[in-house]
Amino acid sequence: MKRARAIYPGTFDPVTNGHLDIIERSSKLFGHVVVGILVNPEKDPLFSVEERQDLIRRSIDADMSNVEVEAFQGLLVDYAQKRDAHVIIRGIRAVSDYEYELQMALMNRRLQPQIETMFMLPAENYSYLSSRLVREIAEHGGSISGLVPEIVEQQLLERFRK
Ligand code: PNS
Repeated sequence: MKRARAIYPGTFDPVTNGHLDIIERSSKLFGHVVVGILVNPEKDPLFSVEERQDLIRRSIDADMSNVEVEAFQGLLVDYAQKRDAHVIIRGIRAVSDYEYELQMALMNRRLQPQIETMFMLPAENYSYLSSRLVREIAEHGGSISGLVPEIVEQQLLERFRK
């Protein structure tokens, strides 16, 4: 595993402590981890791809030198192949995530059989955490402290300052 390269894909709008927990766990398991931010023209994200990339980079510990953050477009399996990664990492929080993740993993396997999807569990205190809830709470002035890195908290407060 230590020699394997993995992709951890997502929207990361914005990155949460749950995502960072998975990144940290992955960086200990794999030789190299590419955090891939999907550029999705159909979605209207709160943070631009560049901002999301910057927030993730600034939130990652300096000792995680085998982690790289990059934006990608198109099919995930094509991107994984381009980056020479044979593992796709996805975090699963609750049973409710499973159905969608199973569908994606099997479809990705059909598209590119040599790429494996691995599911990882974040720390249980992040099992109810999502970027969508964080955005919603921040928008309405609730506390998101402890759910996202400080830099993300600052940026969200600024974004929703009335
Ligand atoms: O954080 P998200 O929004 O749950 O991540 C979803 C993501 C980016 C992993 C997924 O939408 C994706 O892989 N998109 C790239 C396009 C693609 O490959 N689609 C086919 C998936 S079977």
